[in-house]
Amino acid sequence: MKKKLILVFGTRPEAIKMCPLVKELKKRDSFQTVVCVTGQHKEMLEQVLKSFEIVPDHDLKIMERGQTLFDITEKVLWGMKRIYEAEKPDMVLVHGDTSTAFASALAAFYENIPVGHVEAGLRTYDIHAPYPEEFNRQAIGSMALLHFAPTEAAAGHLLKEGKKRERIFVTGNTAIDALATTVSRSHFSPVLKEIDEWTGGGRLILLTAHRRENLGKPLYEIFEGIREVLLEHNDLRMVYPVHYNPIVREAADKVFAGMDRVKLIEPMEVVDFHNLMERSFLILTDSGGIQEEAPALGKPVLVLRDTTERPEGMEAGTLRLAGTKKENIYREFKLLVENHEIYDKMSQAVNPYGDGTASRQIADILERSC
Ligand code: UD1
Ligand code: UDP
Repeated sequence: MKKKLILVFGTRPEAIKMCPLVKELKKRDSFQTVVCVTGQHKEMLEQVLKSFEIVPDHDLKIMERGQTLFDITEKVLWGMKRIYEAEKPDMVLVHGDTSTAFASALAAFYENIPVGHVEAGLRTYDIHAPYPEEFNRQAIGSMALLHFAPTEAAAGHLLKEGKKRERIFVTGNTAIDALATTVSRSHFSPVLKEIDEWTGGGRLILLTAHRRENLGKPLYEIFEGIREVLLEHNDLRMVYPVHYNPIVREAADKVFAGMDRVKLIEPMEVVDFHNLMERSFLILTDSGGIQEEAPALGKPVLVLRDTTERPEGMEAGTLRLAGTKKENIYREFKLLVENHEIYDKMSQAVNPYGDGTASRQIADILERSC
């Protein structure tokens, strides 16, 4: 009999990293693979589903503008309860640390359905950073039966926390599986063409920022530090695909208003975005996923956060932590723009996150274990 697996995800980064696994599981006769999206994100999730040509079996459609953690958690918990009752899966697979992942794992736990955790074991051990993700991932780790860790370091955290060795598998990160299908020198699109023309030979800076713990003062400080360096260097052009979060949009509009070397654009389709990363001089971001992708592309990243759960990219030399204070952002950004030696050292392509076979390995493990 086929084992029924439900994969649940709801935000852009989960979708980018779960779609390669969905495709792999659907190829296997041993599984009936059901895809459920919560719709925690709407447009940003739809973009990814379209790019990977995945049509979900269920969509909870929970997103509302300016939603709170209470809204998401409550709606996903109840929504997933109903789906689990109807589908009766043998296992639920969740990804990472979003509220979708936490609440759908919790609903599975309450329904006594085993949980498999993809991208398990990332830790800062600071419950407030990233917030609420550090809590979410620790909580999912306590509920999960199987832990798919991207690196040995992540597996080490789980072992130290007392999880059983035979339930932990180091597979690499499915982000690298996705990257292998998206980045191509021959990729061209109207959006990229327009950006290429606009950059006109200048150095392209790519910015993304959205973290909840940065909303408010830290986000303004980050933007202001960036702004100062841009004003000092005429050859820099910055593209910022702005997250749909209205608080982020308001801050970006205010600080970058009137700067003709800054392009604020809508969130980009993932294939375009990965290829724009490839074309960039430097990436400034507080995103988790981009910290995994950039080292594989040899793109230096200034991480706009005080802590990171991705120390592998720091050890590899591609990432530098810039914090969230204006003066630190200014200093670090300026350094990379002006110091070629440091920049060149950071531009080595290394990939600490596996060989692009994470989805295949996870599917093999699931065939043996459930
Ligand atoms: C969520 C995740 C975070 C992840 C991020 C990826 C939680 C608690 N946070 O944060 O871990 O890094 O997604 O982007 O799960 N919005 C839209 N359309 C969209 C998406 C978002 O309008 O397609 C707007 C809505 O107003 C929404 C707001 O963005 O209220 C914030 O979205 P939400 O999912 O609550 O939090 P994120 O900051 O995106
Ligand atoms: N990304 C994208 N379009 C964009 C910005 C980011 O496709 O305009 C991709 C990026 O390559 C990475 C993921 O979205 O795979 C990161 O998502 P996000 O920053 O929203 O979440 P996080 O990684 O912080 O959880």
